Amino acid sequence: MAGATGQHGDVAAARARIGDLVETLNDHAWRYYVLDAPTIDDATYDTLLAELEQLEAAHPELVRADSPTRRVGDRPASGFASVPHALPMLSLQNARGADELVAWHERLVRHLAGQRGVDPAALEPALEWVTEPKLDGLAVQLAYEHGNLVRAVTRGDGQVGEDVTHSVRTIRNVPLRLRGSAPALLEVRGEIFLPRSGFAQLNEQRIERGEDVFMNPRNAAAGTIRQLDPAVAAERPLRFFAYGFGRIEGADAPATQDGVLDWLGELGLATSSEVAVHASIGEVAERCAWWEQHRESIDVDIDGAVVKVRDLVLQSELGSVGRAPRWAVAYKFAPMTRTTRLEAIEVKVGRTGAITPYAVLEPVEVAGVTVRHANLHNAQDIARKDIRVGDTVIVQRAGEVIPQVIGPVRDARQGSEQPWQAPQACPACDTPVEPDREDTVVLRCPNAACPARLLRLVEHFAGRLAMDIDGLGERIVAQLVGEGLVTSIPDLYRLTAAELERLEGFQERSAANLVASIDASRTRPLGRLLFGLGIRHVGDRIAQDLATAFGSLEALAAASREEVEAVEGIGPVIAESVAAWFAADPPPVAWRELHELGVNTVALPEELSAPGGGPLDGEVVVITGTLEGMSRSEAKAAAEA
Ligand code: IVH
Repeated sequence: MAGATGQHGDVAAARARIGDLVETLNDHAWRYYVLDAPTIDDATYDTLLAELEQLEAAHPELVRADSPTRRVGDRPASGFASVPHALPMLSLQNARGADELVAWHERLVRHLAGQRGVDPAALEPALEWVTEPKLDGLAVQLAYEHGNLVRAVTRGDGQVGEDVTHSVRTIRNVPLRLRGSAPALLEVRGEIFLPRSGFAQLNEQRIERGEDVFMNPRNAAAGTIRQLDPAVAAERPLRFFAYGFGRIEGADAPATQDGVLDWLGELGLATSSEVAVHASIGEVAERCAWWEQHRESIDVDIDGAVVKVRDLVLQSELGSVGRAPRWAVAYKFAPMTRTTRLEAIEVKVGRTGAITPYAVLEPVEVAGVTVRHANLHNAQDIARKDIRVGDTVIVQRAGEVIPQVIGPVRDARQGSEQPWQAPQACPACDTPVEPDREDTVVLRCPNAACPARLLRLVEHFAGRLAMDIDGLGERIVAQLVGEGLVTSIPDLYRLTAAELERLEGFQERSAANLVASIDASRTRPLGRLLFGLGIRHVGDRIAQDLATAFGSLEALAAASREEVEAVEGIGPVIAESVAAWFAADPPPVAWRELHELGVNTVALPEELSAPGGGPLDGEVVVITGTLEGMSRSEAKAAAEA
């Protein structure tokens, strides 16, 4: 008897402890995944979780449905069950640009005035609006009964969706149990998406495993949710944001859209933190335009902003037309990805001889910019993604970076597409290419005298962070090299105005100007010259450090690899590269000739006295956003100075 009582006591104690642990762990998960403000460290969380797992293993009958160990459950027995929506899940009307937004607003006001039998002008000041980012993922409805997550269903065709509860339970910011006083029934609507960072990480993984990459975060999220194996979904960093509701029983919905979002937040659901309330459609239009400019400021792909009437009573008064409500509209941004035909793959030879492929595209407008060329990374990447010449490809533009080819649309193939062969020889000098010694994915032209390499080197030498030669841009460099006037860097300092005047496009004045700006570069600091020489791995910063440490080109040339490596911040790879550059016979740039031609090869006084002691000394400067009249690297240089 005593033993039986003891066992009872054990079970009661285990039940209580399990209850405590589930509550505590779920609370921490909410702080971590929803509030983004954890209050304990990962190790402590893991210790508590391990304790819960042990107790559950000893008492399987006590495992709770809302236990954090129950996120990954069994796969559904028979695929996806169809589930009808009690209230249809509507879609949104679209507005592209401010004009269509204003037109939507006018229709809405006219409709409302007509319904109420009043003058439209009388309505206008009373209307308020809410804007939210339009997340580019997939819509689902979560059903909570007495606070417990019982079902998750995709939007489907709006009337009937698919039961994806097994996948949705694995999403860390979807509460398995609501916080506080939950109604008897709450249907929460929102979007499941993959943050951009998680998307990049996922694709890296897939490339490593030799699997197909996902074209965009939306496809990745949709593909993951429709996985039958919940373990697969659990591995991927999906997130959920709530933006509305379906049925509610046992509670009253708040009176406004922003009130709804606040309420959902109190119940433990994640909502967007970028919601705004507006008093006029003009303000709404401004906010939408702002969003289009700042869409990349958040780690989520958004394809527009959703504009909603703020007042929920007014929303139901307005009702819907067809499958879309009158009270909301999607202000759509120009897409950042488009498809177009890959006409050819060409290669470019870089300053160090690296041969990189790029895409020649049928011109296509991507978010307001006409794209003709795009990055293709390297030959291995092209093969892995099976990109063929003639393919319809997906092109993406993001921020200031060069557009990228994401991958082919295989379904669009006609059969005439051709796999690409990496060149065997350099397109500029016909020298057989070699795989790079350090990075074998890269092909390299080993010919130090390759004309394409010379072009890139002269461009680099004349660049703003190097010798900063005004008027010596890409076009002029190509002309000088093409006419045979410049066959090496020192040749620049031998150019005469008379020679230049004979070239097409040059006049007396422009020829004299170019000679003068080349002449002015003779007195540049040593750090700039060193950077301009184009030694592999020697960026502008390292070049400056070397100039300060050695004081002259002569001294650096005489230094051993060990002496170079002894400089603070310089590792073995850079040291080896510098030593090899100076040891080459002849050196890639005849620097002694430069000295003879009057180019400064010693450190200037300001390069030797260690900088410091200024007001910004030791501070970290962060440069973000767009700068007017300054490139990012110029801003960096200015901050460092
Ligand atoms: S409200 C009746 N709000 O856009 C209104 N939708 O094209 C229903 N979406 O299926 C939607 N973010 O998947 C709303 N903040 C947001 C949204 C949003 C994304 C999606 C949703 C919907 C689609 C409509």
